[in-house]
Amino acid sequence: MKNQFSSVRDVLKSDEDGGVFRVHGWIYRTRSSGSIVFAVIRDSTGIIQCTVKKSGVPEEDFRSAERALVESSVEVEGVLKKDRRAPGGYELVARSFSVVSYADPFPITENQSEPFLLDNRHLWIRSREQAAIMKVKETVLQASREWFAASGFYEVTPPILTTNACEGGTTLFQLKYFDQNAYLSQSAQMYLEALSFTLERVFALTPSFRAEKSRTPRHLTEYWHLEGEEAWVRNEGNMEIQEELVSHIVQSVLTRRREELEFLKRDTAELALVSPPFERITYSKAIDILKGRGRNAEWGEDFGTEEERIITEGKDRPVFVTNFPKEVKAFYMKEDEEDPRTYRCADLIAPHGFGELIGGSERETDVRKMMERMEQQSIPLEPYRWYLDLRRFGSVPHSGFGMGVERVVRWICGLEHIRDAVPFPRTPSRIYP
Ligand code: 4AD
Ligand code: MG
Repeated sequence: MKNQFSSVRDVLKSDEDGGVFRVHGWIYRTRSSGSIVFAVIRDSTGIIQCTVKKSGVPEEDFRSAERALVESSVEVEGVLKKDRRAPGGYELVARSFSVVSYADPFPITENQSEPFLLDNRHLWIRSREQAAIMKVKETVLQASREWFAASGFYEVTPPILTTNACEGGTTLFQLKYFDQNAYLSQSAQMYLEALSFTLERVFALTPSFRAEKSRTPRHLTEYWHLEGEEAWVRNEGNMEIQEELVSHIVQSVLTRRREELEFLKRDTAELALVSPPFERITYSKAIDILKGRGRNAEWGEDFGTEEERIITEGKDRPVFVTNFPKEVKAFYMKEDEEDPRTYRCADLIAPHGFGELIGGSERETDVRKMMERMEQQSIPLEPYRWYLDLRRFGSVPHSGFGMGVERVVRWICGLEHIRDAVPFPRTPSRIYP
C-alpha cells in the first residue's frame, strides 16, 4: 500500500491491476444506484472513476459518498481494477472514501449561457477544456523561455507604470500616479530598446494593456506580451528570430501537449508543418492579392480580420507581411530606403482568420527623422526625452517584436474566442471576477 497520494495520471499509467492507491481531488461527476456510488474524481492530471460500494467501505464513508455533490473535495483509497468502460481503462474500487469539504450545488451545469459562464469564471476554469488550454499556454511560455535562453537572450523586467505611450494615445489606460498622470504599459518595447544597448539581446514577458473598445474575438484589454529586442539585427534577422521562436513553440506544444490538443479537437496535421522559413510578402503584394479577390483595398489602409483571412487563404503556416505604409504604423520604425513610403517592419499573420500574432520592426536610429515624424503626428517630445537619448549615445541598428501570447494560444488551440486563452479575461464589458 502506498501512503502517499498518487496523481490520477500516475495511477492510470501504473497499469497495476490490483494495486492499492490513494488519490485526492474533486468530484467531477457522480451518480448512485442504491448500493453503489460512481464518483469520477478529477485532479490536475486527469479523471478516474471511483466505485464506492456499500459493502466495500465503512458505513460512514458510503454515506459521505452518497451525499457529496459535484466539486466536493475528497480523498479515496482503493484497489485499481481494469474496466474497459471507465475513462482511462481503469476504475478505483474504494476501500475508504472521505470528504475534505462538501460542495454546495455547483452552479455550472451543461448548456449555460456564455455570460453566465463568464460571471462564474472562477469556477468555470475547473473545466477540462480550460485546464487543457492552460496547459498548452504553460508550454507556450516554457518553450519560449527555452528558445530565448538557447539563443543568447537575457530575460529582463521592464516597468508596467509608464509616462509615455508606445502604441499611440487612443488605447491608453490612464491612472493617477500621486500628483502626475501615468499609463499602464501597452508594450515594453521602448524599455527593451534601452536594455538592448546593455545586454544586446533581451526579452520580456509582461502584461500589456489596451483600452480598445473593439469587441472582437481577438482583442483583450489586458494581455500577456512576449517581446524581444536585438541590437545589431535588421528587419530580416528579426523575422528569422520570430519564425524560429514560433516554430519551436508550436513543435513543443505538439510533442508535450498532444493529449490536450486532441481533447480540444485541434487538427494537429497543419501545426506539424510549422517550421522556418515562413513566407514573406510585401504589403503592396497583399493589396494586389486583396484586389485580385475582388476586395476594395486601397494602398494606405490597415488590414482587418477579413483582409488577413484573405491574404493567408490556402496557407498552412503563418505569413509575414512586410513594408507597411508609414501612415498605418508607429513613428519609431525604420524607414525603408528602397521604398521610403514604407517602414522596415513585418506583421506575422496566422491563417484561417486567427490573424496577427506578432508585430515587429527595425527601429529608427536617426534622431532627426524621428523628431520630425513626432512633430508631424503632434506627439509631445518631453515624455520621450529618454527614448530619443538612446539615438544620441551610440545607437546601433536594432530590431524587435511583440507576440501576443493569447493570440498564439488561440491559434494553436483553435479557439473561437481569445477570452478562452486567459483564465480571467478582461474585455471592455468585463473586469469581474
Ligand atoms: O502590434 P503591436 O501593437 O506591437 C507592439 O506593441 C510593438 N511595440 C511590439 C514590439 O515591437 N516590441 O502588438 C504586438 C502584438 C500583436 O501582434 C498581437 O499579437 C498582440 O500584441 N496584441 C493583442 N493581443 C490581445 N489583445 C489585444 N488588444 C492586443 N493588441 C495587440
Ligand atoms: Mg500590430
